[in-house]
Parts: sequence; C-alpha cells; structure tokens
Amino acid sequence: MKIILESLNVKRGSKLVLNNLNAVFEGPGLYQVIGPNGSGKTTLLLTIMGVLKPTSGRVLFEGFQEAVKPFLSYMPQYYSIPRDAPITIYEFIEGHYKMTKPWPRFKVVGSIVEEALERVGVPKSLWGEKLSKLSGGMIQRVFLARALVLDPPILLLDEPFSNIDPEGKVDLADSIGELSRDKLIIVTSHDPILLLEYTRRILVVGHGYYVFGEVNEVLKQEVLKKFYKRCAIELERHVHIVDWH
Ligand SMILES: Nc1ncnc2c1ncn2[C@@H]1O[C@H](COP(=O)(O)OP(=O)(O)OP(=O)(O)O)[C@@H](O)[C@H]1O
Ligand SMILES: [Mg+2]
Repeated sequence: MKIILESLNVKRGSKLVLNNLNAVFEGPGLYQVIGPNGSGKTTLLLTIMGVLKPTSGRVLFEGFQEAVKPFLSYMPQYYSIPRDAPITIYEFIEGHYKMTKPWPRFKVVGSIVEEALERVGVPKSLWGEKLSKLSGGMIQRVFLARALVLDPPILLLDEPFSNIDPEGKVDLADSIGELSRDKLIIVTSHDPILLLEYTRRILVVGHGYYVFGEVNEVLKQEVLKKFYKRCAIELERHVHIVDWH
C-alpha cells in the first residue's frame, strides 16, 4: 500500500505552504513529518485526507480496498470535546466505532473496543470513567484509541506526543511503533528521536522547501539548520532539536 504525493502545491489563504512536494509513503511502516510551527505539517495531513484541495498536483492511494472499510483514520492535533460530556471513555470509543458502521449500529464486538484501549495503554480502571476525569496525556491516548478502533490500514497522527510526560511519551512511542508493523503511519512531531527506531523516512517541511530521506540523511545539522536555524544543535555527534518551553 502506498500514498504518493505528486508535485503537490497547497495554499492556506494566499500563502503557498507546500511547494512542489513529491514523496512516497509505503506501508506497512512509519514516516515522520517534522518542521517548525506553521511549516505545513497539519496542512499536509489535511491534504492527504482530502480535506484541503491542492492548488496543483495530487495525492494518489495505491493498494487500498477502500470499499471494504474506512481506510484512513486521523488523530487531530487539537480537539474540542466538552470535558464534562456524560459518557465514559469506553462509550466514547464504542460510539465512534458504531458511527462508521452501517445500520443497524448497535451490534458492537466489545473486544474491538477493548483491544484499541489496551493497545494504547489506557488502563482498564479508567474505562468506566468520564472523559472529564482524565489528564491531558490520557485524553491523547483515548484519541489514539479512537483512531485505532476502526482498524484502518492508514493512521495519520498529528502531534500525538504533545501534553504527554517523558515516560508516557516513550510508552506511547512503543505503542505507535508496534502499530506500524502492519499499518502505514504518518506522524507529525517536534521530536523525531522518540520514534526513531521505527522510522522509515523523515519528511522535513518549512520555508517553502522540504527534504525527504532516511533518518541518517535527514537528521544532520547541515540539513536541519535550514529549517530550525540556531535550534539545530549537535550533541555528542547527535543532532538534537531544542525544545525551549
Ligand atoms: N485556516 C487557515 N487559514 C489560513 N491560513 C492557515 C490556516 N490554517 C493554517 N494556516 C497557515 O498555514 C501555515 C501552515 O500551518 P499548519 O497548521 O499546517 O502548520 P504546522 O506545521 O502544523 O504547525 P504547528 O507545528 O504549529 O502545528 C501557517 O502559516 C498557518 O498560519
Ligand atoms: Mg500542526
């Protein structure tokens, strides 16, 4: 299965955000999209989903049986749900699953919901709790479970690590890495190191240009400083992107 970006130009308002972008994402496997704030990471995911229309170029999908089931799930960077919504975490995931099913929708296989929650590390003790009781990081996991419950071959994850504490990040990175064994996963991030061992290739976007290559071709100071300027520093021969906040 493949997603092919062909000479993609995408504007937001009058600004050309993605400029003649060419890339192929081949699954199963994990790809990272990095770049400074406003560089076009979310724009790229929205374009792959068909929510934004490129001004020229196209997105091609190869090898997906889209008629059979939803073939793509998206975990948004921002979400707004009423934190006091009177539903439990389990119902939140189950409800999303049901909404994608044809009528009648009430027949849900419980194990599908349970597996999604387990795979992203939401402890069973929380399944019956309301969303309002969760920390920001746990909400993030619940949204990943929501994307996962449809079991799509493609997952687009927009900054899944924001709001998560360091140990939680490592755990979540392992869950996402495991998922990439049988799915095509595209993750945007400000910290490519977290998923490095699972990463096929990295796409760096920003300032109207991009680089798409293997980890060791991309995570080099001379490449990253074009995008991150003085925040691309080298630590004991490893390039690191400084997160000042
Ligand atoms: N709805 C919109 N209308 C007009 N311009 C927009 C809109 N949304 C985003 N933009 C602009 O498009 C550019 C790319 O934004 P985008 O959200 O894709 O960046 P990003 O790389 O995801 O940033 P971040 O790291 O902050 O999430 C930015 O200059 C942004 O200001
Ligand atoms: Mg974004």
